[in-house]
Amino acid sequence: MAKKVARSSQKPRREEVSATTPAQLAAVSVCARHGNRPDELLEIFHEMQHELGFIPEETLPVIATALNRSRAEIYGVLTFYHDFKRHPVGKHIVKICRAEACQSMGTDALCAHAEQSLNTPLGGTTADGSVTIEQVFCLGNCALSPAIMVGERLYGKVDAHRFDEIIAGLNKEAAE
Ligand code: FES
Repeated sequence: MAKKVARSSQKPRREEVSATTPAQLAAVSVCARHGNRPDELLEIFHEMQHELGFIPEETLPVIATALNRSRAEIYGVLTFYHDFKRHPVGKHIVKICRAEACQSMGTDALCAHAEQSLNTPLGGTTADGSVTIEQVFCLGNCALSPAIMVGERLYGKVDAHRFDEIIAGLNKEAAE
């Protein structure tokens, strides 16, 4: 059943959208917990990502309604911050640095290897949902280029062989 979205107490300026899907209903609850305050939008996104794993497109109109903002404003904030995911991601996120120092030490070859060995392009997720690979620009580990990050853990001097070992370690962890 559709749930009417409570909205910011400001004068309504936008088309109202009702929540119908589970993700939309979750978005309504998160917005309500933040008092439907537009200045809490980043916290709302963080909380939704924590709850749902990503921020589904379908939730943007109900967030806009709750916060009394346009969809374009909500979408603009969401897409400005790269750490907010707009699609489901893998259990492990592997970030590969493509900034200058890592470029000079062979990150392009590493990226090509990662795409081939995991059979997914940068930004994509393996078929089993275990790993998402992303490109980033500087992990602050330039002296040990090429650098990658898995979750919160940083690795330096990563070549194709080392990359495969790290991925095998993740898969082994999952199997235990
Ligand atoms: S350029 Fe890759 S970690 Fe800084």
